Amino acid sequence: MELWKVFLWSLGVQCWWLTGCLASRGNDTRLYHHLFNHYKKALRPVQGPEDMLMVEIGVTLTHIIDMNEKHQTLTANIWMTMAWNDSHLTWSPEEFGGFTALTLPASEIWKPDIVLYQNVDPYFNGWSTDDTYIKVSSTGYILWEMPTVTMSSCHLDVSNFPFDTQTCVLKFGPWIHSGKELDMRSMADEGSLESFIDHPEWEVGSFKAKRHMIWYGEDFNIGTPYADVTFKLVLKRKSTFYVFNLLLPCLLLTFVMTATFFLPSNCGEKLSFGVSLLLSMVVFQLVLTDVLPESDNLPWIGRFVIITMILMAVSLGMSVFVMYSCDSSMGARTIPGWSRKVFLKYVATLLLMGDLSKQGAAESADNPGEYSPPDLTTLNSVDKNKHNDNTTNSSDKTTLALYHMVNNLQSVQQNLSGLLVHARRMEKNRALEREWRSLAKVLDRICMLLYLVTATSCLIAFATEA
Ligand SMILES: *[C@@H]1O[C@H](CO)[C@@H](O)[C@H](O)[C@H]1NC(C)=O
Ligand SMILES: *[C@@H]1O[C@H](CO)[C@@H](O)[C@H](O)[C@H]1NC(C)=O
Repeated sequence: MELWKVFLWSLGVQCWWLTGCLASRGNDTRLYHHLFNHYKKALRPVQGPEDMLMVEIGVTLTHIIDMNEKHQTLTANIWMTMAWNDSHLTWSPEEFGGFTALTLPASEIWKPDIVLYQNVDPYFNGWSTDDTYIKVSSTGYILWEMPTVTMSSCHLDVSNFPFDTQTCVLKFGPWIHSGKELDMRSMADEGSLESFIDHPEWEVGSFKAKRHMIWYGEDFNIGTPYADVTFKLVLKRKSTFYVFNLLLPCLLLTFVMTATFFLPSNCGEKLSFGVSLLLSMVVFQLVLTDVLPESDNLPWIGRFVIITMILMAVSLGMSVFVMYSCDSSMGARTIPGWSRKVFLKYVATLLLMGDLSKQGAAESADNPGEYSPPDLTTLNSVDKNKHNDNTTNSSDKTTLALYHMVNNLQSVQQNLSGLLVHARRMEKNRALEREWRSLAKVLDRICMLLYLVTATSCLIAFATEA
């Protein structure tokens, strides 16, 4: 009898324990069965066909991985948050042992087909990564969060490089659900930046969010708008790096380049110096084209380099021309009258170099005038008179010696006048050369002025853009 009672008692205890166990294990299992026995994840979770489903979206920018000017892409690490009310996933927590929220794999439920319109990542296939989890609360509120790396296209205008500000747009919206089925709104006025890791090159200006309803009108029920939320990311380039590594060397080069305009054009150093500077400019431009996209919109700095190179080349070509023109072995040419008048007179005085045409004239006046040899014929006639007198033998000898001397003197005089003619020709050539050189100097000065004006105007443009 006692044994029977004990057996019954232990059975009761076991039964109580078992039912308690089942009940305690069963609360979430029960809830799961309650929610998903009749759930179809293919169906939009609304009560009626006219009901609109509102999807909230939030974006947190954590890192800018790459901003590629050449390919016009922005690669960024962002945290996406989406939320909506699923009317089929509601329950009262009291019925299920106080469960107010469930965390489930995202593959179990319906999800909106939100895409990033600007996506250019070939390996990215929407947000429906089934490894993610969602949170369902008892009111049917669903929260879906995921970290992701997006690569999006972004039009970059580099005309103010390196002092530019870029605007990249991240537009999120449903691809096939029209605005009648699915509406969008942003969780906040701006995307969040609280976890943003400072980027060495880019500074975030703003990250504003805006909802749009846009009519595309190319689907079957023509005239259906589509909702989207667009995040506008304004990025400002931190130019310090480029100022020190690109702009400053360029400026130094241009300063050095002004020195070439002062070098005399007849010295060969000018050519080699100018050519090496030109080469360094070309290298500089190669570096620049590496950074910039292949667009027809050349940045200021590129224009600056090209203008500098053109002026440099003009100056070099001119000095070659001058060297050729005043080469005496080629037979010196005279400067055409009009250019002497225009360049050596007016332009030179304008450039505060003085009247160079007058200077040339003064130099030719300084030259010894026409050389007039002493008239030796009178001496000759005197001698001959003396010879006719026939006074003494000694005087006869003297007369003969004198006669020889006069003859010698005459030949010396002839040689001398030949030398003089040569010297005068040389002098004339040299004067011509001097004139060509002054012309070259004037042209160089013009180039230098042009150069300085363009360089400073470019710099001022830089300064105003910055
Ligand atoms: C399960 O739910 C029932 C009824 O709501 C409750 O009495 C029970 O304590 C719950 N079990 C656990 C383990 O919370
Ligand atoms: C979900 O429903 C709650 C309560 O009705 C409402 O306050 C909330 O705005 C809804 N959320 C969305 C994303 O529609």
